[in-house]
Amino acid sequence: MIHLPFKFPLFQYTVPDWKYWKPLLLDKIPQYDLKGDTVSTDYHSPHIDQYGSIFEECVSSVLDNFHKDVGHPVYLRNVWAQRARKGDYHCTHNHGSSGWSAVFYVNFDPKEHTSTGFFSPFTDPATGDVLTYYPEVNEGDIVIFPAQTLHSANPSTSDIERVIISFNMMSVNEIEIYNLGENK
Ligand SMILES: [Fe+2]
Repeated sequence: MIHLPFKFPLFQYTVPDWKYWKPLLLDKIPQYDLKGDTVSTDYHSPHIDQYGSIFEECVSSVLDNFHKDVGHPVYLRNVWAQRARKGDYHCTHNHGSSGWSAVFYVNFDPKEHTSTGFFSPFTDPATGDVLTYYPEVNEGDIVIFPAQTLHSANPSTSDIERVIISFNMMSVNEIEIYNLGENK
């Protein structure tokens, strides 16, 4: 008998009508502006007011499907964008200890770019090697994973910008809870 008690889920979806949404969304994402980091990002000063409404509209059916697949409510928590030029990378990190995180491939060519690399929470028992997984993705795809999963973006070797939007989701509406506390 073999017990396989733990599963590591990766959900992958494609935004419907991606050709329609791509130029609308890409146009609103802040331009490349590297500030002593390894990728150009608005993580610390989100421009969600520029692209938030288009983002929410184009991902709404994907989030509906994810909600059904995962079986519990999901609420968007924060959203940010990243642009990577040749040599840019994002070192190994996670997005916290609970909830779900996502990478949405907005400008991405599988012939030019690599997908996000995911690291197993345990090593190969036979070799001790760190186990990695690079899902096959195309532009317009969204990969959703447990927020605690270590992941990274390899250094870009392409002359074409790799653009993604990343976001976090929780199973409870933290903002609502925060506001309830504020209003007591
Ligand atoms: Fe990340």
